[in-house]
Amino acid sequence: MVLHTDDLSTTEYISRVRKAVHGLGMYYHVITFGCQQNEADSERIRGMAESMGYLPSPTHEGCDLIIVNTCAIREHAEMKALSFLGAFKAEKKKNPNLIVGVVGCMAAEPHVADKLKRDFHYVSFTSEPNMLHRIPELIWTVMCERKRSFIFGEDRGDIVEGMPTVRRDRHKAWVSIMYGCNNFCSYCIVPYVRGRERSRESQAVLEECRELISAGVKEITLLGQNVNSYHSDIDFPELLSRIAALQGDFLIRFMTSHPKDTSDKLIEVMGSHKDKIAPYFHLPLQSGSNRILSRMNRTYTRERFLSIVEKLRAAVPGISLSTDVIVGFPGESEGDFEDTLEVLRIARFDMVYGFIYSQREGTRAAAFEDKVADSVKSERLTRLLKMQDEISLSANTPYLGRVLRVLVDSFEERDGIKVYTGRADTGKPVHFTGDGQLYEYVNVRIEKTGAFDLIGTTV
Ligand code: 5AD
Ligand code: SF4
Repeated sequence: MVLHTDDLSTTEYISRVRKAVHGLGMYYHVITFGCQQNEADSERIRGMAESMGYLPSPTHEGCDLIIVNTCAIREHAEMKALSFLGAFKAEKKKNPNLIVGVVGCMAAEPHVADKLKRDFHYVSFTSEPNMLHRIPELIWTVMCERKRSFIFGEDRGDIVEGMPTVRRDRHKAWVSIMYGCNNFCSYCIVPYVRGRERSRESQAVLEECRELISAGVKEITLLGQNVNSYHSDIDFPELLSRIAALQGDFLIRFMTSHPKDTSDKLIEVMGSHKDKIAPYFHLPLQSGSNRILSRMNRTYTRERFLSIVEKLRAAVPGISLSTDVIVGFPGESEGDFEDTLEVLRIARFDMVYGFIYSQREGTRAAAFEDKVADSVKSERLTRLLKMQDEISLSANTPYLGRVLRVLVDSFEERDGIKVYTGRADTGKPVHFTGDGQLYEYVNVRIEKTGAFDLIGTTV
């Protein structure tokens, strides 16, 4: 069901807290772990915090409200968030009225939710990722009823429109178009913590894009755990072509796609809107062995995956491709790993994000018995990344001497000279000197290439 913050109690609680906080000069700080969806969610959290009258602070120190937006994808992300939380114990001692909230994917895992409740007494509230619109209510409960408050297992699969948003950038914006995942890849915690797939209505998405473009946003990234399985009144390729048809000077990106939903229609739409859809595709492979892909429940073969790569390159010449790979999935033999390396050699990705398999409680793979030793996992990841570095380096060499359009993100002064950083349409990071202008497009001639970035001067 699509709900609006005005129909929910969100708006009511925002104004209640606002009255309580009014004139007290209270500060908030949001800490974000994990993926772009979490970044986008944190922009909503900031939106609510500022609507409630809290002032932004660049650090958690001295704040009255600290919200940690967590990630559960790998054990490492969880450990980082939990050790970070430890620092707030002392803050709470200094300021007993401090409100600490833990939200996002970790707060939706039963064993973590229990731990936060039991062992982290200075955590005032928790909320799973799809219930963030209830943060104002949680804060009200903590502040006025002096009760710790926890939201767990209450996600009913609704979509909430109309959340206030404070965006990090003014030239780039995230637009979430779908939430959740139905794929249940056997290693992945996401479907358990973010629930079933739900897509926003196309009119709401188009309206948000229209507003962003007229506010001067140059790059819109459509987000979804499984972005290309978007389906409301229209499907994802249709949505892309309708956004591409909007008036203005902007580029569309999207992530993360699943190979199974990368249809010929989607590839065709990318080919016919090259002026508006970025020549970039993130297509997670995970493994190049059909046996492992099947155990991962990925529902495609290496052959089907490679045929998508071929079609993308044919439809969008010069397209930049990236992928995710997991090494050391249970049962992965040396032969299976070699199969992965072989697919990487054939596909020649511009960029590979390699991960060591991390066991997630509650997933199917957690029960698989044939675990791979840690030392083997690390050794495989090192080998993979070393091989990929050479591929990435040679994929960037043809850029030498070419002039690329770059959207400028930032600059820093080095020896009195401004060195700008931005991204080419392909998404490649570009560092350059010359006449840059922050948040605008400039043309840069590439003079040096590395495995990860390009270096040049404006023309
Ligand atoms: N262990 C390691 N990597 C994982 N990913 C997802 N779940 C796990 C896990 N349990 C990786 C996948 C996914 C990326 C976002 O994180 O490669 O595409
Ligand atoms: Fe996880 Fe697979 Fe869903 Fe991606 S598609 S979020 S890897 S279950």
